[in-house]
Amino acid sequence: MAPPKLHVLFCLCSCLILVHPFDWQQLNPTGFIKSAGWTDQIQMLMAAVSFEHTKIPRGSGSYSVGCTDLMFDYTNKSTFLRLYYPSQDYDHYETLWIPNQEYFLGLSKFIGTHGHMSKILKFLYGSIIIPANWNSPLRTGEKYPLIIFSHGLGAFRTVYSAIGIDLASHGFIVAAVEHRDGSASATYYFEDQSAAETRNRSWLYFKTLEQGEKETFRKQQVQQRAKECSEALNVILDIADGTPVKDVLNLGFDVQQLKGSIDRNKIAVIGHSFGGATVIQTLSEDQRFRCGIALDPWMYPVSDDMYSKVPQPLFFINSEQFQSPNDIKKMTKFYLPDKERKMITIKGSVHHNFADFTFAAGKVIGHIFKLKGHIDSEVAIDLTDKASLAFLQKYLGLEKDFNQWDSLMEGADKNLIPGPTIHTLTQPDTPQDSMGIEKENVD
Ligand SMILES: *[C@@H]1O[C@H](CO)[C@@H](O)[C@H](O)[C@H]1NC(C)=O
Ligand SMILES: *[C@@H]1O[C@H](CO)[C@@H](O)[C@H](O)[C@H]1NC(C)=O
Repeated sequence: MAPPKLHVLFCLCSCLILVHPFDWQQLNPTGFIKSAGWTDQIQMLMAAVSFEHTKIPRGSGSYSVGCTDLMFDYTNKSTFLRLYYPSQDYDHYETLWIPNQEYFLGLSKFIGTHGHMSKILKFLYGSIIIPANWNSPLRTGEKYPLIIFSHGLGAFRTVYSAIGIDLASHGFIVAAVEHRDGSASATYYFEDQSAAETRNRSWLYFKTLEQGEKETFRKQQVQQRAKECSEALNVILDIADGTPVKDVLNLGFDVQQLKGSIDRNKIAVIGHSFGGATVIQTLSEDQRFRCGIALDPWMYPVSDDMYSKVPQPLFFINSEQFQSPNDIKKMTKFYLPDKERKMITIKGSVHHNFADFTFAAGKVIGHIFKLKGHIDSEVAIDLTDKASLAFLQKYLGLEKDFNQWDSLMEGADKNLIPGPTIHTLTQPDTPQDSMGIEKENVD
């Protein structure tokens, strides 16, 4: 927690900028106000003002939750993931939400702010911990279903902890991969063994695209992302089979514990935004994934030949604000005879309701800048979790009590709309959604 003086300072900074734009961070003020980065700057400052409200909810299931980071192999081809898992009872939350300075630098670059902002972000958010026990031993005696999770554009492996923790607390092992396709705000790898031993990280930041290259590149990225999901699955199944696999991060979680702990017939893929597109691509390429959940998917990178290539059950959980009529049209093209499809929309929700950022800003500020919707962020994430659990039980064939939430899959709740929202004719009013995604819809 910061001393009160700093709090006042940040308040002051934000107010000054609001009433009298000045040469903030060596930028030309006029060009600066016109640029899209302007509102983001204020947004970040004001989010900073309300930092004390950051609170990632605890898992609502009965299992204690452990968390660790694992990396397999070297170079940018390596697999990097954050693992959430049922752990032995042990209440010792020491899991850092965003563990390296470079992620703040990546985030500030991604949202178009100056590098100095990363120091402020690091100061405010760099010591936040999430309700998961760092490196605690895996709870043994059960084979767990496995979820591979894919993040959105500008995000990275650690910022979907609310969902990861809740699923783990219900008895899932969740592997949140960090993509190396240039879509993460930041990610790192080790060139070789000696780099890993000396912790000499090679950082890879968000890749900015030129107008003309977007369409081809986004489609290449979604393919790479799907491949990375399958590779993460390969390595986890190898470990589960007892094949010796080396975790080059070596942070203190013995991967041998995972031997015999995964139910190979109960594997699903979940992702948000660009990760939602990745869910579709992954399902089409890898039949080991029995079903998928696309959280407010960004449909732009999904190619038209996908519609007939996803035999597995697919669940769209959308926000009210994000989807355009074109996106919805693309989603409904997956509704083919004999295919299991479901779609619900969470009333009053925004695109960021699925990522942890929604918990990182105070109420008013979060609402103004669309990190929060009209719906309470905890209510929105709880509906997402419970509808997902019901879907996973049904299509992975689990023997749990998640069917108590079956009606949520059909949109039967005062905060849900069955199918797409009725407001699909209103376009989102910003071309670039803060921290989430650029709108590149083509007619
Ligand atoms: C990964 O590394 C290879 C070889 O060094 C390079 O050609 C490729 O561009 C890199 N990929 C990314 C996404 O940086
Ligand atoms: C760290 O790795 C980079 C290449 O990946 C290399 O050029 C550099 O010399 C290394 N630094 C140290 C201190 O070993």
